[in-house]
Amino acid sequence: MKALLALGLLLLSVTVNAKVFKRCALAKLLKQDGMDGYKGVSLADWLCLAHHESNFNTKATNYNSGGQSTDYGIFQINSRYWCNDGKTPKAVNACGISCSALLQDNITQAIKCAKRVVRDPQGIRAWVAWKTHCQHQDLSKYVKNCGV
Ligand SMILES: *[C@@H]1O[C@H](CO)[C@@H](O)[C@H](O)[C@H]1NC(C)=O
Repeated sequence: MKALLALGLLLLSVTVNAKVFKRCALAKLLKQDGMDGYKGVSLADWLCLAHHESNFNTKATNYNSGGQSTDYGIFQINSRYWCNDGKTPKAVNACGISCSALLQDNITQAIKCAKRVVRDPQGIRAWVAWKTHCQHQDLSKYVKNCGV
């Protein structure tokens, strides 16, 4: 019972500490950090991607049991290729960072790593959610009335 209570409080604190971006706040920040048009990826594409991957939540994590890897943060960047979480078999860590750095409220590192991901030949197609939900779609609603 005590353990359950402690777990409940822990989950509560994780939820409370998670930073969930508002759409336009994220749009402005991404623009400021040079994401608009980076490697041909529009601001609306980045927003659509982040919306479907994490719902703009910097603390989002999802374990892929098939690949024994985990996706981290607002862009759901994967531990097989891009970051080190100390538990993913045959991990590459091409961004040269700890995966926990991708969960910070300050998304500077997550942005830097996302740029690294799209510099690879497959570009934004690395994100399945982008292909499924954003490719060939009208994405104007993502930046609408944001002044970006
Ligand atoms: C976010 O972190 C970067 C370094 O990773 C730092 O340069 C920047 O000032 C930080 N931004 C804020 C708002 O704290």
